Parts: sequence; structure tokens; C-alpha cells
Amino acid sequence: MAQRRKIHPERVLTVISAFLFVLCIIYGAYLYIDMSDLLSFDDHAISERAFVELGYSEDEAKELALLDEELKSTIIQYPINSISYELALADGMNSEDYVHGQELYERFDHLTIRDVEAMLEKRGEEDPDNIFQNDRYYIASNQERYEALASTLNEENYISEEAYIRSVVELVNSEMDTIDYVDYVEADTSKDQTMLVNKHHVLDQNYVPDNLVEIDANYGRGELRSDILEDLYQMMDDCVNSKEDMSLFVTSPYRSYVTQENLYNNYVYSYGQQEADTFSARPGFSEHQSGLAVDIVAYEGQALGDFAYYEECEWLKSHASEYGFILRYPDGKEDVTGYQSEPWHYRYVGKEISTHYASLDITFDEYYAFYLS
Ligand code: DAL
Ligand code: ZN
Repeated sequence: MAQRRKIHPERVLTVISAFLFVLCIIYGAYLYIDMSDLLSFDDHAISERAFVELGYSEDEAKELALLDEELKSTIIQYPINSISYELALADGMNSEDYVHGQELYERFDHLTIRDVEAMLEKRGEEDPDNIFQNDRYYIASNQERYEALASTLNEENYISEEAYIRSVVELVNSEMDTIDYVDYVEADTSKDQTMLVNKHHVLDQNYVPDNLVEIDANYGRGELRSDILEDLYQMMDDCVNSKEDMSLFVTSPYRSYVTQENLYNNYVYSYGQQEADTFSARPGFSEHQSGLAVDIVAYEGQALGDFAYYEECEWLKSHASEYGFILRYPDGKEDVTGYQSEPWHYRYVGKEISTHYASLDITFDEYYAFYLS
């Protein structure tokens, strides 16, 4: 008969203790590895791992781990969003700007890096009592002019305080609080494709773009800057090929100072100066002199005013920004541009700007003040 094995309690205790000891060692090692990874023992106190845990990709985390400690702790402290990573990497971005940028990002909807950077440059000191700072296109150096213009407008005529503030900021940023053709500066032609020409930015009488070329006769007549032709032709081809029986024709591209002078004087003769000023630029103040503007219609000889009834007009309105062009005098912005709506007048600014511009609801006059100057 088999003899029953006797259980020694002290042996059981030893086995359990040994088991717990091994468990502790394993857990300790696990903790050690984890912590050492987080607070790594290399030169970067906040390591890649900390950023990965915040939701950044491995690649992003690798770059972030190389930033200075102050900036890294700011990033760790502030909530992750699409903008934080790129802002952190932006040239010269210090911790103060980073934090301010984050606050702006959280306060205003749909901001891009470009927006936050422009805001940081234009906003000045935050002041909770300053109502104009509630507008996303606020420019600190215009503060006194906002106040002056606001004192002449009746807030009750606007649907909301927000709309009232927007209108004041928009008009001042577009210099519509100053006198047309009296208060003006020379257009900054060094801005090249993004130069601003309007009733407050004039081109010299002798200014002629140095790369003017004749437009291919299949696309229109007259001259334009050569650097915009490829995109222009592509846009026109794509529009025409998008549907049967579509056609486009550039009816008025570059206009010299003298051509504009004759045109304007004829309009003044026919309609009077006040009326002419709502649809024709005075010589020197026309975008057409820059060689970057085109009047496009459906076919040669079509009256400009008829273009709005054509599908081609709608197509251009929806797609021009994909080719670097913007609609320069949109409907509903007459008081900001100073001109009646012109569904036929497109202006080249390059694809990067046109794409960003298309996501906003401002005119090029204000875009220039806020993003380009
Ligand atoms: N029609 C536009 C405003 C011009 O004359 O330049
Ligand atoms: Zn035009």
C-alpha cells in the first residue's frame, strides 16, 4: 500500500515565496524598462516614447524628441492636434509663440499653420476687452482705425455683433476707410505673382511686366505674363473638355497704362465718373497692367455681362483655384473691392495661394493685408 506523502507547510511557503519573488523581479524589470524608455537615459529627457504615447507617429516622435527640453515639455503639456507638431518645428517658433498659437488654434475654427503664423505676427498683446480681437483677421496696427470706423457705423444695422466686427475689420484691412485714388501707395511689384493692385496700390505709369508674350490664338488675343500661360491654358482646356459644347476665350488680358487710360476716359464720357469708378479702374490702378489678370468669356465677341449665364462661368468659379487663379471681384463684396461683381475677371496668384484663398471668405485685398504683407 502506497504511503501518503506528508505535506510540509514550511516547504509550501518556500515555493510560494520563491514564486512571488520571481514575479516581483519580472514586474520590476518590466517597470524599469518602461520607465527608462519614458525618461530615457540618453540626452533627451523627454523621449520619443512619450510622444508616441500622446498619439504622434513614430516618425514625428523621432523629430520631436530632438527639440529643446522647454519646447518638448510645452508640447507634452498642451493637447495634441494637427497643428502642434508642425508649429513646433516651424523655424524660430519659441515656447511662448507655441502656447499662444495653441490658444488661437483652440479658439478659432479650421486654422492652418499659415493662419496661426499670420495671427501670431498680426495680433499683438491679447486683450480680453478688445472686441476687434475676436475677429480672426484682426491686425493690431489697425486698432485705431477699427475704432474710428466703428464709431461711424451703427451696430444695429448688422445681424450680430460678430458681423459688425467682421465688417469693420474687413473694411479697414482692405483700406476702404481711406479715400480711393487719394490715399494710395505704390504697388509692391517685388511680390511678383502675389502683388496687390487696387484703388490704394498703384502701378507706375511706366510699369510693364518684363515677360509679356502673345497669347496662343486658340485661347484668346492680347498679351500676358509668360509664367502664367501654362496654368491658364490647362484651366481653359479642362473646362472646355469637361462637357460638350463648352468654350472659353480670353478677351482682355494685359492692358498698358495708356490703354487703360483711354478705356477709363471713354467710360467716364459715357457714364460719368462716379459710375465709371464702380466698374473700371483708373490708369495705374488696374490689375490688367500687371499682366496677371484676364477677362474670360465663352467666345470671342461675347459681351462680358452675358458670361454669367453660361455654364463655363460656373465651372471657372468652382475650379479656377486648382490652376492658381482667383475670382477677383466677387458678388457681395462690392464695398470691399470697390468694384461691381465681375464674374469674368480672374487673377493669377499661383496655386499655393489660390488653394488657401479658396478655403476662406475674404477678398484678395484683405488676404494681401493679412497674409502677404
Ligand atoms: N474692370 C477692372 C476693375 C479694371 O478696369 O481693371
Ligand atoms: Zn478685368
